[in-house]
Amino acid sequence: MKESEKLAADSIHELVRAAIKARRKSYSPYSHYQVGAALLMADGQIVTGCNIENAAYGPSNCAERTAFFKAVSEGMREFAAIAIVGSPEGEELTQYAYPCGVCRQVMREFCEPSQFQIIVAKSEEDYRVMTLAELLPEGFGPENLHCERE
Ligand code: THU
Repeated sequence: MKESEKLAADSIHELVRAAIKARRKSYSPYSHYQVGAALLMADGQIVTGCNIENAAYGPSNCAERTAFFKAVSEGMREFAAIAIVGSPEGEELTQYAYPCGVCRQVMREFCEPSQFQIIVAKSEEDYRVMTLAELLPEGFGPENLHCERE
């Protein structure tokens, strides 16, 4: 990825702040693990999400997918980056919360792997940035089915 395409530090800070705020909405009475995500569109809009659990466990949804599904259902399709924060309830952010495999695959559906940036953060100042291609190499996507992204 070209240097000029990488997110500026100010944008990363704003995105991490939004993810930290979204984490406060986490509904996680079973795992007590709270996750927040903030998804940045190419036009600068931010859509947030939190993890939402369920007594039947299976219907639980990760924060990243909540953000993606909110955005896609509102007609948004041009995604630039996502910031993710997660840690056990009652703790400050003590770890980098990398997206689970299912969420990586959902990102693969809507994002160009070499361009989409994933930020995992412990604070506005302490974060790591990777591309989706780094976290999901050789992934299976719409092109395998001869399908262009809409
Ligand atoms: N979780 C996320 O929200 N994102 C991930 O990428 C990994 C896991 C949530 C799901 C569940 O509510 C809790 O964290 C513990 O797995």
